[in-house]
Amino acid sequence: MPQHTVRSLLKVDAFIDGNWIPSEQRFSVYNPANGELIAEVCDADPALAERAIDAAYKALGPWQAKTAKERAELMRAWYQAIVANKQALGELMSREQGKPIAEAVGEIEYGASFIDWFAGEAERHHGEVLARSAADKRSWISKQGIGVCTAITPWNFPNAMITRKVAPALAAGCTIVVKPAQLTPLSALALMQLAAEVGIPQGVINMLPSSQAKAIGKVLTEHPRVRKFTFTGSTEVGKQLMAQCSSGMKKVSMELGGNAPFIIFDDADLDLAIEQLLAAKFRNAGQTCISVNRVLVHDSIISEVEQRLLRALAELQVGPGDKEGIDYGPLINQAAIDKAQKLQQQAVDAGAKVLCGGDVLHQLGPLFYAPTLITAVTPTMAISQEEIFAPILALQQFNSEAEALELANATPFGLAGYFCSSDYRRIARVAEQLQCGMLGINAGAISHAYNAFGGVKESGIGVEGSSLGLAEYQVTKTITLGGFE
Ligand code: SIN
Repeated sequence: MPQHTVRSLLKVDAFIDGNWIPSEQRFSVYNPANGELIAEVCDADPALAERAIDAAYKALGPWQAKTAKERAELMRAWYQAIVANKQALGELMSREQGKPIAEAVGEIEYGASFIDWFAGEAERHHGEVLARSAADKRSWISKQGIGVCTAITPWNFPNAMITRKVAPALAAGCTIVVKPAQLTPLSALALMQLAAEVGIPQGVINMLPSSQAKAIGKVLTEHPRVRKFTFTGSTEVGKQLMAQCSSGMKKVSMELGGNAPFIIFDDADLDLAIEQLLAAKFRNAGQTCISVNRVLVHDSIISEVEQRLLRALAELQVGPGDKEGIDYGPLINQAAIDKAQKLQQQAVDAGAKVLCGGDVLHQLGPLFYAPTLITAVTPTMAISQEEIFAPILALQQFNSEAEALELANATPFGLAGYFCSSDYRRIARVAEQLQCGMLGINAGAISHAYNAFGGVKESGIGVEGSSLGLAEYQVTKTITLGGFE
């Protein structure tokens, strides 16, 4: 198994048809912890995107012709190479994205687990033999890889959001072109180095770093050879990309924005509730689509919850990703800081109170935001309606189960939801009524390759991971064979 260092995994060119393709035009990648320039990366243009799609198209037939076992074995070799190099991959990710190295290594393992899982699914998937509709005929449904797929992935999970799309595509017999986020292309390119080393055939996966999001997005969604497009990012951009896919009637899956409620009922085990709330909120400094956005607390326990959170937040360690023992690192860029401050200020102007934090930790650098607790938040404030994507806990109060449900569901989004209760009847009732694609009950960590990740309402279409994730990359074909006696 090749053993890499961060340096040997640092690739800066596009990866097309198994080759590293440089370009004159390049863009810069910086470390958000200290502003250090890490690399100048190939800035792929639409012509390179077309070349990548052609490569994926050329690779499709031979990849589809492999047996499921052959595909699964190549995927498992890639999985093993990633796990064997998780430390170097994690350090590289921490440098470009900012998350603590331990959390970054955790993401590498999480990302790799999708490859392992879908290698298994490649071998297990099957069609259906249908009931006989006529004496002289036999019919069955076969499931086939849809063809060339394209993907656009975000900066908050620079590894796992790629593997969660690429792995089911490969398992289904598809080939793929990915545009990783401009802010974090290095983790994506390192994955390509390992894929090449273990023998994933040329053209099966192609990686297009680029700063030209709109122009590349147009090619990836409109090119006639593309049959499926998948995106993780904001709802606003997802809607535009989906509209672009419609002219070619391409299959889409979209993992979009959320506005997760975390309800703490008066019968909750508060030790557990606070622990799970912190896990769900402060992962990746609050920069996850399933991060808690609105904490809804029964008014009889609000003071107790505030006091417990104040004590817990005082313990959180913030710092650069390569420092031991930190809980979270910098936000991704100045725009993220500006957004957090704006949402917080608007809330305060409308009557909310900052109980702790609320500031940039200038002694650490311009992108470090203090663990922040805001109370007396109301549903009409922008902080309750927009994704915060920062380490800010915004507390609202409710008085009854019905009110909690009404508040929780009063959003066009429906990605994740969470609640804490010890009453099994309430658990059943609330679980049925919360409008979300993923629900944590007394649990704040809900992501796993075995689980179906996806939202309802404007949070997206389709799921990733789980036994359902493969179908997003397949088409069904009903076959009828006649001429029987
Ligand atoms: C995301 O924030 O989009 C992904 C989070 C996860 O997979 O847990």
